[in-house]
Amino acid sequence: MKKTILITGSTDGIGKLTALKLAKDGHEIYLHGRNADKLKVVISEIKTASNNDTIKGFVADFSDLEAVKNMATQINKELSKLDILINNAGVYKSRVAKTKDGFDIRFAVNYLAPYLLTKAILPLLKKGNASRIINLSSAAQAQVSIEALEGEKTLSEMEAYSQSKLALTMWSLYLAENEPDLIVIPVNPGSLLNTNMVKEGWGFHRSSADKGRDILYDLAVAEKFGNASGKYFDNDRGGFGAIHPAGDNEEAIHTLIKKTNELMN
Ligand SMILES: NC(=O)c1ccc[n+]([C@@H]2O[C@H](COP(=O)([O-])OP(=O)(O)OC[C@H]3O[C@@H](n4cnc5c(N)ncnc54)[C@H](OP(=O)(O)O)[C@@H]3O)[C@@H](O)[C@H]2O)c1
Repeated sequence: MKKTILITGSTDGIGKLTALKLAKDGHEIYLHGRNADKLKVVISEIKTASNNDTIKGFVADFSDLEAVKNMATQINKELSKLDILINNAGVYKSRVAKTKDGFDIRFAVNYLAPYLLTKAILPLLKKGNASRIINLSSAAQAQVSIEALEGEKTLSEMEAYSQSKLALTMWSLYLAENEPDLIVIPVNPGSLLNTNMVKEGWGFHRSSADKGRDILYDLAVAEKFGNASGKYFDNDRGGFGAIHPAGDNEEAIHTLIKKTNELMN
């Protein structure tokens, strides 16, 4: 059945590859990018390569949370339902470490932006039938410092990235528990896949980006993942696994969500 799908950060990397694979199945796909020109080119590329005309897009720089809110408003106006949301946009290395709101850019783009976006478009997801939310986690996870989340403590790039990914994973577990009608799956798509982020951050890769594309595709549409809500999929192991122990803790999750809601108000 034709589904309506939104994939953030789909102008490059595994997000773009996943969008193309889903587009080939005839779904209605909404791409997202931070650069309007690049987004336009990718929409046209995917339309041609998939022979699917129902490809559209939204622009927002996720390091600007006001822009994320505006994008959510546009989505709520334009869409009547959403079946699949892949929160894929992410950043590791960045010339600018802090956003204009004072957050570390990794916390803003990798955690606060998808949190804000998802919350704002939740009613659209609830109109779908067992809609899925796939959140891009990572093997890199580290205990979240609330001070660092608030922008009050400066971390190394790797530490900030790892903390932002654990925050996203903890929120995924929370969302799965609180929204039983939705399927929420956090995923490590595989480590050191061949994408820009890995080229810029590490200078070498271990696996093809197709490995990430294939698991995102399956998590989004395969029937076998229809009862996997709240489970963390670790594609380095090719199966479900445990998250960082510091995040697998109800009190820590409660503290994180409470603080996130305060920051987003
Ligand atoms: N590759 C890996 O080995 C690996 C491993 C674990 C997890 N992940 C996660 O997988 C996701 C996709 O990463 P990737 O490897 O495919 O990286 P990528 O090729 O660098 O793609 C990242 C995507 O996010 C977008 N993006 C970056 N900063 C943004 C911002 N400020 N606002 C809006 N969009 C922004 C990029 O836009 P542009 O096209 O404009 O650059 C691009 O579309 C990320 O969440 C990443 O953390 C990747």
